[in-house]
Amino acid sequence: MRKLLVTIIASILCLSVQAENTSPMLLGKSHAMQRVKVEKKYMLLPVQEREEIATIKVLVDNKQVQSLNVKLAVDKVDYYVPLDLQRFGAGDVLLDVKFHGDRRFTGAMKDFLCWREMKQSDTFDMTNREKYRPLYHHTPVYGWMNDPNGMFYKDGVYHLFYQWNPYGSQWENMTWGHSTSRDLIHWEAQPTAIEPDALGSIFSGSCVVDKKDNRVVAFYTSAGEKQTQSMAISKDNGKTFEKYKGNPVLVSKEEDFRDPKCFWNPEIQKWNMVLAVGQEMRIYSSADLVDWKYESSFGLTVNKQTGEVTELGCHDGVWECPDLMKLQVRGTDKQKWLLICNINPGGPFGGSATQYFVGEFDGHKFTCEHTDTRWMDYGKDHYATVTFDNAPDGRHIAIAWMSNWQYANQVPTKQFRSANSVPRDLDLFEYEGQTYCGVTPSRELLALRGKTVSKLPQTGEIVVDLKGSCNITLSNQLGEQVVLNYDAKDKTFAMDRTRSYASFSENFPCKTVAPVYGDIRQLRIFIDRSSIEVFDAEGRLSMTNLVFPQEPYNNIKVVGGKATMYEIK
Ligand code: FRU
Repeated sequence: MRKLLVTIIASILCLSVQAENTSPMLLGKSHAMQRVKVEKKYMLLPVQEREEIATIKVLVDNKQVQSLNVKLAVDKVDYYVPLDLQRFGAGDVLLDVKFHGDRRFTGAMKDFLCWREMKQSDTFDMTNREKYRPLYHHTPVYGWMNDPNGMFYKDGVYHLFYQWNPYGSQWENMTWGHSTSRDLIHWEAQPTAIEPDALGSIFSGSCVVDKKDNRVVAFYTSAGEKQTQSMAISKDNGKTFEKYKGNPVLVSKEEDFRDPKCFWNPEIQKWNMVLAVGQEMRIYSSADLVDWKYESSFGLTVNKQTGEVTELGCHDGVWECPDLMKLQVRGTDKQKWLLICNINPGGPFGGSATQYFVGEFDGHKFTCEHTDTRWMDYGKDHYATVTFDNAPDGRHIAIAWMSNWQYANQVPTKQFRSANSVPRDLDLFEYEGQTYCGVTPSRELLALRGKTVSKLPQTGEIVVDLKGSCNITLSNQLGEQVVLNYDAKDKTFAMDRTRSYASFSENFPCKTVAPVYGDIRQLRIFIDRSSIEVFDAEGRLSMTNLVFPQEPYNNIKVVGGKATMYEIK
């Protein structure tokens, strides 16, 4: 009798655990609810990347407190992502789950693996599991990352925010992640900065250090049904942000209306904002960061009489992520303005790239001085480039997202996806009567140089001294290789990764070619576990490309130059 009673009690207990943790309440063929009794810090959500999105609404006390999109596992778990349960208080949480798409419904939803694999835990393992995770480039600890956002410098600390998906390693749930660094190289992960709300997810934008009011103000695009501009204020140096109650601060009927870049313009004693709108950059001004006055647009000129439209620069895609700054022209006392205009697609090698315009800006209108299209970096993995606000010593330090929308979601990593480029200092230089943007690896990278080595390191800097044309081949025993070539006669520099591992995307193999402004005497090549960035010593050439060698390149052949290889410290 006692034994029977124990069995009955045990099976009731077991049923109740099952009901809470594994058996969802079914509400249709693609809709279910799961009640969760909060016992631990996180709910680990199982992700299967090839599946379609499921929307999870988190309900506490009958109120929706969060909504997120996750590729919940159907029959295989690729990895887990943590949903923070602590923030919901001690009681029960109800997960209202709707699966999208039809592929899943070949099987019964109740049998999906996710119900069995969702589990509570007090910890989430963030130990690196990726052979392609760079050693000295910024990456998110886990999850997807695209554009660098809101970068600023204050009190000795560089702040880097970024487009982040905390619930998967593909683009979704845009949130501002946050990292900080004292040297632009070693980054420390910080708590999430700005999260989606009823106005939308949090797209790209910028931060300004408002010295007068001793605050940091973030501007971002609220990507809801429409794209609008919002702001958030930090009174603790960027640690936490409070969204402005009067958001949005700028609206429009345009579809593509985003990526506000703001800066203080001492020449007009006002703030300026540059915004990407379709295939134009719009310029605004404001005295208080809240009321924005439209000043002018740049990119398309319409002839008032004939109606004819003249395009400036490349217009084969949408203009995104602008930046605008005044720079010194090297070796002169001249200063000019640089307008950065990221474009996708339409890049010189397909997909995303960073174009720029050199000209004048009077606080109201930007006027370009050239008619040709200019690219800041001639690789295929250099996008969403923007600079730090308030950088020390008048520097203009840029960081680019090191990927390309053509294949960013497919590159062969899982725990995280995408890295940022090394920091680069921008200036201007003159060549044959034209003014171009100069790109120099930031001086902080010199401090990374370790001892010289005789074998090609997996992560390091290679300095190649040249006297003329030069060919550099990096290879491994699998026959994979990348070839760099400087052609002194044609005045081009090229990187060929067509014989590099690429089975994840037909758009990956490519040969990228750059024009060379003046002779190259020395190259600086930064190699990390999945990237190669090449600069010339004069800061007139930059080329950024990803590579995913299945085994590290361990062989280097240099014809026409002398290579010195440094380990990274
Ligand atoms: C550029 C971009 C931005 C947008 C963000 C969304 O890569 O498309 O225009 O704000 O990414 O994640």
